[in-house]
Amino acid sequence: MGKNMQLVRCIVNGREIEEYVDVRESLLDMLRNRLGLTSVKKGCEVGECGACTVIIDGETYDSCIYMAVWANGKNIRTLEGLTGPNGELSKIQEAFMEEGAIQCGFCTPGFIMSAVVLMEKGEKLNRDAIKAHMAGNLCRCTGYHNIVNAVEKVLNE
Ligand code: FES
Ligand code: FES
Repeated sequence: MGKNMQLVRCIVNGREIEEYVDVRESLLDMLRNRLGLTSVKKGCEVGECGACTVIIDGETYDSCIYMAVWANGKNIRTLEGLTGPNGELSKIQEAFMEEGAIQCGFCTPGFIMSAVVLMEKGEKLNRDAIKAHMAGNLCRCTGYHNIVNAVEKVLNE
């Protein structure tokens, strides 16, 4: 074991995880490379695009600028944790499909994790407030309109 390796114990999508990680490793790399959670997208890697958004103890974080060792003792959720045991989509995933809120899909997991936090807080937000909450998530394809429609739909139903 190299001297730069450190044990991280955390919960990921409801499962207890123990991994030795490099102390310089991002949570993004731990989730993708060690745990195979490829919904967590690697975009800018400097905390600007939101493609790597995950939920840690109920709040969203850019996992590219969150060190893997900081995850020790935390509860982490990714898009993979939203689907049912037989791959059933969650309400918010269905809303994205119904509203045509996906084009290339690269930004979609990050937007959905941001929306999940809003849903769980029971926020009833108007379109401007939804856009403000999602300001850290960038999309190159959709023009945002349909994404906001999808989030508005699940928040206000
Ligand atoms: S990849 Fe993390 S914010 Fe862009
Ligand atoms: S759907 Fe392509 S970046 Fe958002």
